[in-house]
Amino acid sequence: MSSDEEVVATSIPYFIGKKENIIQTRRVLKSVGGRDVLLIYHQGDFYAIDARCYHSGGPLQEGDIEVGCKKSLLIYICMPQICFNFKFSLLPIKDFDGRPCIVCPWHKYKITLAEGEGLYQAVDPSVKPLKSTWCSKGIKQRIHTVTESNGDMFLTLNDSPGTIDSDYYQTEKYRDTFLKE
Ligand code: FES
Repeated sequence: MSSDEEVVATSIPYFIGKKENIIQTRRVLKSVGGRDVLLIYHQGDFYAIDARCYHSGGPLQEGDIEVGCKKSLLIYICMPQICFNFKFSLLPIKDFDGRPCIVCPWHKYKITLAEGEGLYQAVDPSVKPLKSTWCSKGIKQRIHTVTESNGDMFLTLNDSPGTIDSDYYQTEKYRDTFLKE
């Protein structure tokens, strides 16, 4: 592994902010332990996934900003301290196959928030009438653990061995361009 491919991952819990603030902003981009992670609050649950899409490195924090754009701008203006080292994201969360997914803005790949699975629809032509069903490509996006303690939120990176597709976009090469955009 060359130096620009090195990924630093550790099981240390990182403080990532106050619970109430993350609930308010809903999505936060955070750089911790050499990794860029997108934190998401969705319907009462917190999720943390690698910030760049496993397919081609698409920025999962971006996308359709029709919903909530003005609200996030207002939060940014009123609470600039929360925004230090954070970036807001407004990518819509949708349910596919009954599971909440984030949809990449580049090629619309669907990734489950809880497992990091890539989902796709398939049709069995031998079955009539034709009907599409959701299938899994397996775990493609590395997900991480979010915990709470007395209103403080912590992120523990998933440093499980083995390569997950999204690891490729956590190298210095991609991090440099990503965070400077
Ligand atoms: Fe995300 Fe292609 S980069 S779908």
